[in-house]
Amino acid sequence: MKRDLISIEDLSEKHLRDYLELGKRVEGTSPEVCRKVLAGRILGVLFYEPSTRTRLSFEAAMLRMGGQVIGFSEALNTSVAKGESLADTIHTVEQYCDAIVIRHPREGAARLAAEVSRVPVINAGDGANQHPTQTLLDLYTLQNLFGRVDGLRIALVGDLKYSRTVHSLFHALARFKDVRFRFVSPETLKMPEYVIEASEGATTEVIETTSLEEAISDSDVVYMTRIQRERFPDPVEYEKVKDAYRLDRAALQNAPAHLKVLHPLPRVNEIATEVDSTPHAAYFPQAGYGMTMRQGILAHLLGGKL
Ligand code: NCD
Repeated sequence: MKRDLISIEDLSEKHLRDYLELGKRVEGTSPEVCRKVLAGRILGVLFYEPSTRTRLSFEAAMLRMGGQVIGFSEALNTSVAKGESLADTIHTVEQYCDAIVIRHPREGAARLAAEVSRVPVINAGDGANQHPTQTLLDLYTLQNLFGRVDGLRIALVGDLKYSRTVHSLFHALARFKDVRFRFVSPETLKMPEYVIEASEGATTEVIETTSLEEAISDSDVVYMTRIQRERFPDPVEYEKVKDAYRLDRAALQNAPAHLKVLHPLPRVNEIATEVDSTPHAAYFPQAGYGMTMRQGILAHLLGGKL
């Protein structure tokens, strides 16, 4: 059967731990050997929404595994502008490549692409729904920073309503042992019930609060998010919450020494640049782990031997 990566909900705890192992294997493999793993294979990269890290790290990952890349980062320059359907675009691109990475503003678009495609499809973000490869790299980052994922106390901060990164991440972390959550958001941007319900049955402790201060003194990880302006139906509502949280050096004064700050990036105002040089900042190394993890993901889905 064809392998896709569409939603964290499709992955068991075992799958998640296997992906972490795969990341380690990539790191333990020399660049020369990596370059043979996907030699001669072509990745199609279809981005209908802006991206820096996800697209470039996928492309770099494919090149480092010896493969090549085709695609677009602006759908308006493609036949989409002439009215072509997503299914027709997929049926075309699958003729040219061995796997497809897709980012799309509509929830469910990646699932649809996977249903019509005969080559593996990877979801690089569908609307406010899911961003599974970001979650795998986030888990890999935690594993590298703490030597484990189990037992961590994690605060998810900011736009918990529209951030697909935290929807995926919560699903994944709830599968690990004894992870405790603090959801920190303005009232209007709380974690949606449907996300919490999907993880029901997991032995998960969740505290919901609006206080970032409390989360900083009582967590191992503070995972910041950008307020997702493009997902707000009403710009007036965005204006009300856009500066809800700002993490600066003063805010970190009571932080435990081992506290790490993560962020999928891009940041707007939610983390002051003065935080970058503190030992708490881990968001740029996190972006770096993205390439390693995606090398592993591509090798796995394309059947490359690592
Ligand atoms: C995130 C995304 O696109 O969901 N970015 C990323 O992939 N690293 C987060 C965001 O845009 O805020």
